[in-house]
Amino acid sequence: SVMATAKTPLTGKRVVVTAGGTRERIDPVRFITNDSSGKMGYAIATELQQRGAIVTLISAPTKLTVPAGVQLVPVVSTEDLASAVVTAFEDADILVMAAAVADFKPAVSVDQKIKKTADNDQMTLELVKTTDILKTVAKVKTSEQLTVGFAAETQNLIDNATKKLREKHLDLLIANDVSQPGVGFNGDTNQVTILQPDQAPIKTKLASKRLIAQQVVDQISQRVQKEG
Ligand code: CTP
Ligand code: CA
Repeated sequence: SVMATAKTPLTGKRVVVTAGGTRERIDPVRFITNDSSGKMGYAIATELQQRGAIVTLISAPTKLTVPAGVQLVPVVSTEDLASAVVTAFEDADILVMAAAVADFKPAVSVDQKIKKTADNDQMTLELVKTTDILKTVAKVKTSEQLTVGFAAETQNLIDNATKKLREKHLDLLIANDVSQPGVGFNGDTNQVTILQPDQAPIKTKLASKRLIAQQVVDQISQRVQKEG
């Protein structure tokens, strides 16, 4: 039998979720990446799908299984992710940027392995900034579209996160203090503070990423309901 799913404010909403850590190639055998398992983004994609949303998961490489009923768009680099997001956002109601995006990439890409040399004990790798995807999206975002960002901070959590909420024109920002035990990357638990422009911060308890995803999606759902 087919289980009937109750209608929710997210039923039929087109949601784009990004997850995983982007990779910037240095040479054929090396890359730069961020410390990210993708678990939080995948948990959010799962929760949104279960509430009836049509979910596109744009994912950098992870070890995770794609949630049932979710459309996967695989990407590797930040520039791949940026173009996939910009395209998918055109028809989306909501964007959730849970990906750990590399801020810098090698200035030049080389197609041969970089070799050690006998006469040099040091090497310098020149990096250039990548595209800020949320800032790019902010320029084309309509008043009907919601954007959700994440911020991993090691200090001044609320100040840094509030600044990101404003500068990236976000409706919600999920901030975590990754210096706390059990918080953030790789583990199965998290503790977040949910910031919104018009509301006091909501601080969750330390809980499984599944339960944190439910609380994040509750807030997204409430905003969608309010904005009709
Ligand atoms: N982000 C993005 N494009 C980038 C870097 C980050 O869209 N090039 C997104 C992330 O996916 C996240 C949010 O912006 O949702 C905040 O990411 P974070 O790394 O915390 O902020 P940055 O703006 O990169 O600032 P910094 O790393 O210097 O704190
Ligand atoms: Ca960053």
